[in-house]
Amino acid sequence: VADSAPSAPTPEIPFARPRLPRAAELLPYLRQIDESRWYTNRGPLLCAFERRVSDHLRAEGRGTADVAAVASGTTGLILALKAALGERGGTCLLPSWTFAATACAVPAAGLHAYFVDVDPETWLPDRRAVKDARDVVALVAMTPGGVRLDIEPWRRLAAERGLALVVDAADCFDSVQAGAEPQVVSLHACKALGVGEGGLVVSSNTATVERIRKLASFGFSQGRVSQAAGINGKMSEYAAAVGHAALDGWPETRRGWLERSQAYRGILGGGGFDLLFDGGHACASAMVDLGRPLAAEVVKALAVHGVEARRPWGDGCHRQPAFAAWPHGPLPVTEALAQRIVALPFYVDLDDAAMAKIAGVLARTLQADRAALQT
Ligand SMILES: Cc1ncc(COP(=O)(O)O)c(C=O)c1O
Repeated sequence: VADSAPSAPTPEIPFARPRLPRAAELLPYLRQIDESRWYTNRGPLLCAFERRVSDHLRAEGRGTADVAAVASGTTGLILALKAALGERGGTCLLPSWTFAATACAVPAAGLHAYFVDVDPETWLPDRRAVKDARDVVALVAMTPGGVRLDIEPWRRLAAERGLALVVDAADCFDSVQAGAEPQVVSLHACKALGVGEGGLVVSSNTATVERIRKLASFGFSQGRVSQAAGINGKMSEYAAAVGHAALDGWPETRRGWLERSQAYRGILGGGGFDLLFDGGHACASAMVDLGRPLAAEVVKALAVHGVEARRPWGDGCHRQPAFAAWPHGPLPVTEALAQRIVALPFYVDLDDAAMAKIAGVLARTLQADRAALQT
């Protein structure tokens, strides 16, 4: 996978094995680019891709949303925060229990960060901590892969406190439900619907989405005059071409993810484990709560057997050097989840034998731990 070091030995069962559209599936769209000679800057493929995603959400009863396609999920988060706050600055609350990208987006949007703990069930920001925070202007909530959570209480809380709400829904292409706040989906190669690098910002507020489009293009409004300090966050026609081909194949891709996650659940269930967050929606993550602080040990044991598993967000963002000096409140849930949660290999062609091998190592490692506790 892209982010492993080139010299690292390839594990027998890698963490991810993305499968994006094949060359033949891309070809009709690439030919359209040859014809139009329009390669980026809101070309015809990009505009059609945004409309297709919006139609897809509406057809699935997931609300009427405007959609901006951008260069990556991280770019989408930065733009969503910028669109909400402009040059205002201030402090943004965010969970430490998330991928580094969520944290990286905050200073890139000109904000200071303050880490809050999460709810142990949903992993959404702890509402008490949000209520108690002083002098804050924004709240980022992260929704775990494939989950359609009821974020209404967080919406209300953000409104009561006058906070701009942005939802990091990186692995939620199949579950995101339009609301007024911007929700950001990643189209990274390792996500359920991937284009390589790309992202979507989804919102029922068309003015917000339009502002995000402008900010993604240097803040240009009419012509080439910057009205706001934006960035280059555009998605190219080539990425949009992959997006179209990925959408063409989505029903089959989706079935694949869902069938494999059902199989995983069945096989892990034999050892008393289950994947977290069963919402019946496709996603590319397969996480297990070990119930005991054994995540590091399990990752090591799996590695010995040629299986690349991960502690999804390490010890939490607040423990990573880039963010360690940032202020935070008490983080007991984050600290506990960091020790208990493992992310297992997962891809549409992960076969039953590989799943059984993973389940076996999990069961043996936990059995050994239980036996050690009893002696
Ligand atoms: C929770 C979370 N937020 C944000 C991102 C960033 O998305 P991207 O890689 O498209 O920038 C990711 C990517 O994996 C993620 O998992």
